[in-house]
Amino acid sequence: MRKHIVAGNWKMNNTFEEADELISNIVDALEEKELDRNTQVIICPPFPYLEMATDYSKDSYFLVGAQDVSTEDKGAYTGEVSAAMLKSIELEYCIVGHSERRQYHNESNAMVAKKVDQLLKNEIRPIVCCGERLEEREADKQFEVVKQQIEEGLFHLTAEQFKELVIAYEPVWAIGTGKTATPEQAQEIHAFIRNLIAEKYGKEVAEEISILYGGSCKPSNAKEIFSKTDVDGGLIGGACLKAEDFIAIAFSF
Ligand code: 13P
Repeated sequence: MRKHIVAGNWKMNNTFEEADELISNIVDALEEKELDRNTQVIICPPFPYLEMATDYSKDSYFLVGAQDVSTEDKGAYTGEVSAAMLKSIELEYCIVGHSERRQYHNESNAMVAKKVDQLLKNEIRPIVCCGERLEEREADKQFEVVKQQIEEGLFHLTAEQFKELVIAYEPVWAIGTGKTATPEQAQEIHAFIRNLIAEKYGKEVAEEISILYGGSCKPSNAKEIFSKTDVDGGLIGGACLKAEDFIAIAFSF
């Protein structure tokens, strides 16, 4: 059975104190009710809080990820954070290619490919985002766009490397807008992605990869979206900033 994953992308939110409170509330909520063994909770706070999060995670049932990583090993890259640094504080996951980075920082598929390589080299599992913008969906180009993102960003990997990935389909028009893809729309693209992987790496690899949905996923819609065959969980933005909502989503399988 494929791993169910609920990952919280905090984006640029919370002060140190607020972060401390949110994580400790997540710890409490996970203590209260036992989560299914096949469900993995991941939190991805901003860089300054990662070490605090990994400290908390040692006594709780969640793992920690970063929101981005440098394409480079080390050196004169002011403001950047390397995969080796993330590994040195024992991070397990890192988001790559989020649409906000593609949009505001011109992150290309080629850069996504380099970041994924950096992470795999340091034994950190990439959560790779893909998804079309509104005008692309309106022009019925969602399949074409997602295919190109996956081929250019990921298809240089070997099958062994590919198995380390988590994929997140996040239609840009659904992010932070309150508009969600219908469960059918999500299923359609998730199945398309899995099929692309199967064609390149074989069915066995494709069946192992968790594909998450992201875009206004909340406690009220998670169950229906997660009920679809090829949806293995969610990458949660807004709703992950309240422990109660985030954990309710983790219990939606
Ligand atoms: P929202 O859940 O706020 O729409 O954000 C989704 C997202 O971008 C997660 O990475």
